[in-house]
Amino acid sequence: MNNRTVIITGSNSGIGKAAAKKFALEGYRVIMACRNIEKSTNARDEIIEHSSNDNVDLMKLDVSSFESIHTFCSKYKSKYQKLDILIHNAAYFNHGEKVFQFSADNIELTWATNIFGPFLMTQLLKNHLAESDDPRILTASTTNIKHFFDPKREIELDNLHGERKERKKYDVYKMYGDSKMAFLMLTFKLAEEYTSCGIKVNAVMIPNIRQEKESLKKFRSSYYRIIATLQNIIARSPERMAETYYYICTSDEFKNITGKLVNIHNKIMTRSEIPSGKGGFALIKELMGSEHYPGYVENEEVMEKVWEIIRVL
Ligand SMILES: NC(=O)c1ccc[n+]([C@@H]2O[C@H](COP(=O)([O-])OP(=O)(O)OC[C@H]3O[C@@H](n4cnc5c(N)ncnc54)[C@H](OP(=O)(O)O)[C@@H]3O)[C@@H](O)[C@H]2O)c1
Repeated sequence: MNNRTVIITGSNSGIGKAAAKKFALEGYRVIMACRNIEKSTNARDEIIEHSSNDNVDLMKLDVSSFESIHTFCSKYKSKYQKLDILIHNAAYFNHGEKVFQFSADNIELTWATNIFGPFLMTQLLKNHLAESDDPRILTASTTNIKHFFDPKREIELDNLHGERKERKKYDVYKMYGDSKMAFLMLTFKLAEEYTSCGIKVNAVMIPNIRQEKESLKKFRSSYYRIIATLQNIIARSPERMAETYYYICTSDEFKNITGKLVNIHNKIMTRSEIPSGKGGFALIKELMGSEHYPGYVENEEVMEKVWEIIRVL
């Protein structure tokens, strides 16, 4: 036991579960923040058995609900004195969903789960993180944000409460990509805001990672289920991705690094623009590569709008 504590949201399956296993194996106290306790108990038991570390605490959290976040954070703070690592891993991405979904707080569900909830949770746990001698936050990004290499692509912020839901077809893929791009912007903004209290905030760019059968069953579209099943054949394992989570959150190399997007090979990525008029090969190179992310993330105007929407929480 190394006296360091990590919270991992959505750690009952996939990458989150693999990361919980890795941290437990390395002697960390692991808080599995999961919405379905019944379903997650098996995962917790498996992690304890695999790691021989019984400091694995399963706590209820629905990250799309403000009430649940407040309850979770109050319980955490009454139980534990500090927090060393916070990993925002849980996300909502219901492939094939065609109906606009609202969270309990009347926010579009993808945005509620992937950005509003994690932001509120971070703010509520900030003081506990500041108690750590090496506090780190990691947010899960995705290669999906590469769609923003398309100069026409923009985050839409005017339908987050369903304002245009009657007029506009619901596109879960756009909502997911927009929410993840906005969350990356927020990650960079939080890194700046938290510099004074020593909290490092980074994001990890996640490529195609094998999805569990349970996750595939949740897809609304059998077409996308078949695609994802085929992609699983060549996808990397959740355990491989968990190694990267662990490295960014624990290594000396990342001890003083903040406000960065890191790829699966632990390499800091840099922003890039596709020079105008150079679509074709330049674009394909960026889409396939793992060195760069779209310069859109540094669009100050959009970043300020996201910040204005989110900071009121
Ligand atoms: N797999 C990939 O190819 C890939 C690629 C790029 C990025 N990512 C990102 O990697 C992260 C992990 O994905 P994964 O592939 O490991 O997916 P996964 O196996 O489906 O895991 C997602 C986890 O999030 C949890 N979750 C969803 N909504 C939640 C909520 N409201 N409150 C609490 N937990 C919630 C799920 O819980 P339930 O079991 O209760 O649903 C599940 O534990 C996500 O941020 C995802 O966007 C994955």
